[in-house]
Amino acid sequence: MSSTTKHLTKSKDMRQPLIVGNWKMNGSLAANQDLLLAIKAGMDKATCGVAVCVPGPYLQQVQQLCEGKALLLGAQDVSAHEQGAFTGEVSAAMLRDFGVRFAIVGHSERRQYHAETDAVVATKAQRALSAGITPIVCVGETLAEREAGQTHAVVKRQLAAVIHTNGHCISEIVVAYEPVWAIGTGQTASPEQAQEVHALLRAQLSAATAQPERIALLYGGSMNPSNAASLLAQPDIDGGLIGGAALKAADFLTIVAAASH
Ligand code: 13P
Repeated sequence: MSSTTKHLTKSKDMRQPLIVGNWKMNGSLAANQDLLLAIKAGMDKATCGVAVCVPGPYLQQVQQLCEGKALLLGAQDVSAHEQGAFTGEVSAAMLRDFGVRFAIVGHSERRQYHAETDAVVATKAQRALSAGITPIVCVGETLAEREAGQTHAVVKRQLAAVIHTNGHCISEIVVAYEPVWAIGTGQTASPEQAQEVHALLRAQLSAATAQPERIALLYGGSMNPSNAASLLAQPDIDGGLIGGAALKAADFLTIVAAASH
């Protein structure tokens, strides 16, 4: 084992793996209950962190259903504003009222469909942190950007904005690398492709904080029961941000089991 690999492996041991379900705009009171009861029933052997990021209207329901289990609650977005005349927005303090521990910020679907810029994403991360919520900062390149050889530049730029705005708090974030071309397409990044970008992000974080080993780096994009183990085996992949497979209890639990070794 090379000294670099040894170093990375040691750091990985210091981070608890984390599996996060992103339900996106899916669910109903009845479906959520069935899904969560099944997940809770199968979680006894889980040693990794497990969270579900649910649509806002279901926060209270899911908070109650998660009670007493090591299943943490997350939101899919947070306002960049603190409070006031921002119709339709939900503040970090409101999320905190429901026991929310994580908030996804900068998901590519928000960047793409809601024109969220790097600066807005960085402010959202800041709002979450000031309310005691861990932002899960998503970065990732489109297919066109990958084909143009811009992957490194794009993810570095996206993460740099968050580092710049959040300074010494940066060790409190979670980062999710989600190549846009792999989201919902069934086309996963290979473990080597994902590891390459994760190593780059880890190096960027190491230059920004003395405690880079605290930061979990998740992979997201068509992670499923068949590919999870090989992705999670990579030295800089500490967990997953799961879309489609998080809506099926058996699939989600298989991924949780893969992260629990
Ligand atoms: P899929 O797992 O459905 O590809 O979605 C990934 C994702 O966007 C998680 O945030």
